[in-house]
Amino acid sequence: MKVFATIEEVRSWGKSAGFVPTMGALHEGHASLIRRSAAENDQTIVSIFVNPTQFGPTEDLAKYPRTLEADLKLCEAAGADAVFTPDKRMIYPDGFCTWVTVEGLGDKLCGASRPGHFKGVTTVVAKLFNIVQPARAYFGQKDAQQALILGRMVRDLDMPIEMVTCPIIREPDGLAMSSRNRYLNEDERKRAVGLSKALGEVEKLFKSGTRKVSILRAKLATTLDDYVDKLDYAEILDAEDLSETAEIKRPALAAAAAFVGSTRLIDNVILSPTSG
Ligand code: PAF
Repeated sequence: MKVFATIEEVRSWGKSAGFVPTMGALHEGHASLIRRSAAENDQTIVSIFVNPTQFGPTEDLAKYPRTLEADLKLCEAAGADAVFTPDKRMIYPDGFCTWVTVEGLGDKLCGASRPGHFKGVTTVVAKLFNIVQPARAYFGQKDAQQALILGRMVRDLDMPIEMVTCPIIREPDGLAMSSRNRYLNEDERKRAVGLSKALGEVEKLFKSGTRKVSILRAKLATTLDDYVDKLDYAEILDAEDLSETAEIKRPALAAAAAFVGSTRLIDNVILSPTSG
């Protein structure tokens, strides 16, 4: 497996590849994206870059886990052919002042509680796409809103990239895998399962025939309340455009974000009337 530290090295590699952008601190969820890319493409490249512009001023940029050595091992074991590890100045040279923004979709859910977050994500991913020029790019459904926004960016800007969204990978008790799970102490780790539990309760209610969003949303919020320290949001929105709906007639995204201790966790499930 090759490790590229510069844009020039990536460019001269010149392969049409599957691409898995990451911020490192890799886990089994990332490994599943890399394996899927390796199965669907001749070559797979992973980027590892903790993108400062998607963190708010009071967020965890400084303490975000940096575990390059372990990350490289995971990439290789999962089937990556190359890893790109740019530094901050390479991505944001002096005088950098160009941003990519997807309007509307980024105003809700995580966008509402993390102002500027998605502008940082779309800008860095647009740059990484320009550097790597992949045929396909792989993202996790855990960041459902991110996947929707990036899909819209690719469509609106005619980027010739197939976007692939892969299922959430969970711990045996249901907790969605996340780089931030490693912040949790023992008690918090036990309570963190509340997000998937609450979404599971909502899914059960939905499958038993409840379609009213107010009832489903209340179930989500009250169940979460038993586990988490602070609810950020508990929402049920249209799965395609994140519009509000009173009754589920098309696939809906049930999504939650909450603080367990000082760690902010997110999770979601799709409620699909056809399978309900
Ligand atoms: O999902 C992530 O890890 C990041 O938001 C991404 C897509 C790598 C952009 O920094």
